[in-house]
Amino acid sequence: MIGMFDSGSGGLTILAGCRALLPHQKFLYLGDHARAPYGEKTPGQILDFTRTMVGELFARGCGLVVLACNTASAIALRELQENWLPAHHPERRLLGVLVPTVEALTGLPWDRDAPGLAENCPASVGVFATRRTVEAGTYGREIRRRAPTCAVIEQSCPGLVSAIEDGAIGRNAAQDELTALVGGFTKTLLARMKEETAGPPAVVLLGCTHYPMVEELFRAALPAATKIVSQPGVVARALWAYLERHPHMAGGGKDETSLHLLTTGDPAAVIDPACFAPGGLPAFERLD
Ligand code: DGL
Repeated sequence: MIGMFDSGSGGLTILAGCRALLPHQKFLYLGDHARAPYGEKTPGQILDFTRTMVGELFARGCGLVVLACNTASAIALRELQENWLPAHHPERRLLGVLVPTVEALTGLPWDRDAPGLAENCPASVGVFATRRTVEAGTYGREIRRRAPTCAVIEQSCPGLVSAIEDGAIGRNAAQDELTALVGGFTKTLLARMKEETAGPPAVVLLGCTHYPMVEELFRAALPAATKIVSQPGVVARALWAYLERHPHMAGGGKDETSLHLLTTGDPAAVIDPACFAPGGLPAFERLD
């Protein structure tokens, strides 16, 4: 069984991408709705919460956990991989979303990080993400390390995750709020990019797993020539490739119990999972 973790419901977009590519894979999803949004928490809190949540997934039998959360991946992943796993769970594995995303953006495997190798990297990349992901600066640093001439602007989007989690999807009044938020952040990013490059970004990354839920709003606000990279397909292909290399980490199952969604919050108050990934998702159960 593969565990998948996010601060809330955003990781369901990643889960949907993974299930489309790995339909017989067993997944256990955990959303820390009680403490979301992580993007507004301190790095210390994000590390603590992430460690606890991954521990819950390990305790329930997951050998491999995917942090389907950019904020947790940017702040906590390295520390957990380098220190916590070897000391406490040496046989378990933990993956994040940043590595496959940087690989997709630059067209290079992660370990080929010498400058000048990323010939296919776009000339400019805009990144929308949470405040903590932007502060960590991982996307800008890792892209520039491979493609020093690439202009990278990282734009934080405070309030957007909460608006999505609050069930804004599908309600007309709240839809206006989402449109205004996305429009405002996009306008700011375009102005910053224009100052730096005199043009719009060639590529924009939706660097928070909640944002694919409002991808059409970003699409409408961005110039038509700007390509959007959204993570569900990118992470799903990376997981598929990982399982090809490490087949013992896969867990098959075709029965209806092969997917469970757990939440630290009140299942009745959590937005319907179908909003994030239409098609046969079970309801959230409370983590006991
Ligand atoms: N969905 C998460 C991410 O990808 C975190 C959102 C949040 O809790 O702030 O960053």
